[in-house]
Amino acid sequence: MAWKPLGEMQVLSQRQPRVEAPLKVSGQAKYTYDIQLEGLLYGALLTCPHPAALVLRIDDSEVRKLPGVRAVLTDIHPTGTARYAGEYVAAVAATTPQLARDALELFEVEYEARPFVADLDSAMEDGAPRVFAERSNITEAKTSGEGDVEAGFAAAEVIVEAEYRTQVQTHSSLETHGSVAVWEGDQLTIYDSTQAVNGVREGVAQALEIPVNQVRVICHHMGGGFGSKLWAGRYTAIAARLAKLAGAPVKLMLSRRDEHLSTGNRPSSKQQLKLGAKRDGSLVAFSATTWGSAGIAGGAGVALPYVYRSLPAWKHTHADVYTNAGEARPFRAPGSPQGCFSMEQLMDEMAEKLGIDPLEFRLRHDNNPARQQEWRLGAERIGWTGRQAPGSGKGPLKRGLGLGASVWGTGGGGSHAEIKVFADGTVELRIGTQDLGTGTRTIVAAIAAEELGLPLSAIRPLIGDSDYPYSGGSGGSTTAPSVAPAVKNTAEKARQQVAELAAPHLGVAADQVSFSGGRIYGNNQSLTWQEVCGLLGTQVLSASGQWVEGLSSAGVAGCQFAEVEVDTDTGRIQVLRVVAVADCGLVLDRLTTESQINGGVIQGLSYALFEERLLDPTTGTMVNPDFENYKIAGALEVPQIEVILFDEAERGVIGIGEPPTIPTAAAIANAVYNAIGVRLRQLPMTPDRVLQALGA
Ligand code: MOS
Repeated sequence: MAWKPLGEMQVLSQRQPRVEAPLKVSGQAKYTYDIQLEGLLYGALLTCPHPAALVLRIDDSEVRKLPGVRAVLTDIHPTGTARYAGEYVAAVAATTPQLARDALELFEVEYEARPFVADLDSAMEDGAPRVFAERSNITEAKTSGEGDVEAGFAAAEVIVEAEYRTQVQTHSSLETHGSVAVWEGDQLTIYDSTQAVNGVREGVAQALEIPVNQVRVICHHMGGGFGSKLWAGRYTAIAARLAKLAGAPVKLMLSRRDEHLSTGNRPSSKQQLKLGAKRDGSLVAFSATTWGSAGIAGGAGVALPYVYRSLPAWKHTHADVYTNAGEARPFRAPGSPQGCFSMEQLMDEMAEKLGIDPLEFRLRHDNNPARQQEWRLGAERIGWTGRQAPGSGKGPLKRGLGLGASVWGTGGGGSHAEIKVFADGTVELRIGTQDLGTGTRTIVAAIAAEELGLPLSAIRPLIGDSDYPYSGGSGGSTTAPSVAPAVKNTAEKARQQVAELAAPHLGVAADQVSFSGGRIYGNNQSLTWQEVCGLLGTQVLSASGQWVEGLSSAGVAGCQFAEVEVDTDTGRIQVLRVVAVADCGLVLDRLTTESQINGGVIQGLSYALFEERLLDPTTGTMVNPDFENYKIAGALEVPQIEVILFDEAERGVIGIGEPPTIPTAAAIANAVYNAIGVRLRQLPMTPDRVLQALGA
């Protein structure tokens, strides 16, 4: 089976507003935060104030005396050795959120504070305190590469070399992590703000050592995740334990502070890069030595060489570095914005040294045929030919243009779905996926509607429940290529059954029946969808299907162009425009796709200019764990974003969640250079860093 040609699609590849939009804009959509239940208790977490400490003793006697406290846990830390400020040490459930927070003040905890390392550089010093006593802070370096790098550099006629730095970015989802746990006998229902209802189900069952079939996880709506909500949180099992102890449901939502500290982040990086070329513009060698701050976990890699991989010789050596800080976690295209920021600047520097236009240089070294066209589309839209020489503007406000490219690889699989058709003609679609904000609920309904020849409003899409047919987590931009084929396959089976119902009444064979505009056709006659469904009588038609090959694929290109204005008196960077060119195979819904790209650009801009987790080196604690001092881009900073979708419908469905956030920081950095003639090699590009660079 294949997708219809683009031109024949009625519902898909149009601009469909989200099916849940009325619920969301009217405040009726229920997020985990909004769940209200009879007798609901509120949980709160006591966290370790020290970046490294032994928890010697926890006295909860005063806590238990506080009226309204219904359950207390003092055994929630797995080892008693805390490795960052913010680790969960004890938990409480009380009748109001205020009481739960007050109760935290009444714990008496004896800590033995230990020496700590707050950042990547101090963690790498000789004799630095160890995060894990038995291991070096610097993990064993891993090297990858191809060809003879030394010979390559020996033959190079032009070399550019520089060190780049990127910061720790927290996911800053608008809805914090959290769960509501409800027991009915042995049966546990969890409302969770999650990217993976089934992953949480399995994780909670494991943590509580109960069978998977005793756990149900529900997530109807959620306020963002970006990779930080891919598995069960420790708070989820804690909420379930508190609820069991208290004999009442417990809602445990993290505070904004705990969210910044304990739910993961995009790791920082230190990158030493070198690129060699011949005078004719050919690239001969690339080398990179990188480190990433893993906190107390791993996965702090940097994607290099980025995009321009057709180098005859390259080598990349990377090591994660432990710090006494919250863990690195997957964050929208893990490792890629970091690598793109440095690689695209290095490419620009090389182009300038060689006297080649940066776009022309990309076109020569980019072997992706889609992006070859995308570069040209984007360049035309931004007005690349009007680009001035670096730093050549007059007056204190200087404008510049820059560019960057992205690449992302994952496909899909593993999804199952079910469709029910009722005698009144209504349709229900069930699939155990979740909508992390990308529009999943809308696209699954649109696929079913397209197949059945019905309007979008005819389908009731049911997602976000582990009781529905299995689908995997929404990570790695895998959701659309996983769910789309499963829903199409299921809808085809449902259509087949409806065709069989209609066929005798139209006097044709079932395979001669066609569906369009709410009518069912055959033999030059037609019946309405409702008339045919009415034939079901007391029956309910049900079809089950799953992911099949041939409707999706993997691998997207994409590029972005930025125009900035830099105030050389104040150091402030204003991004004026971003042109984002993106492909994702068959575009299922143009509106939700554009909005994912808008979101990616805004998040990338925020990473480029504002966001940074600041740990005080003397105390090891985060000094900006809020939205006042942890600055994220707001309406005033959002530029004009122009999205150009590059259709490749013949490739089937591919995910687009992650790639559009990758090249934004790189494009802005190159535009800043073009504006002021000075390179900023450290993120975020704050006014002080701009002024410092201009001063040097
Ligand atoms: Mo994503 S970082 O795989 O949710």
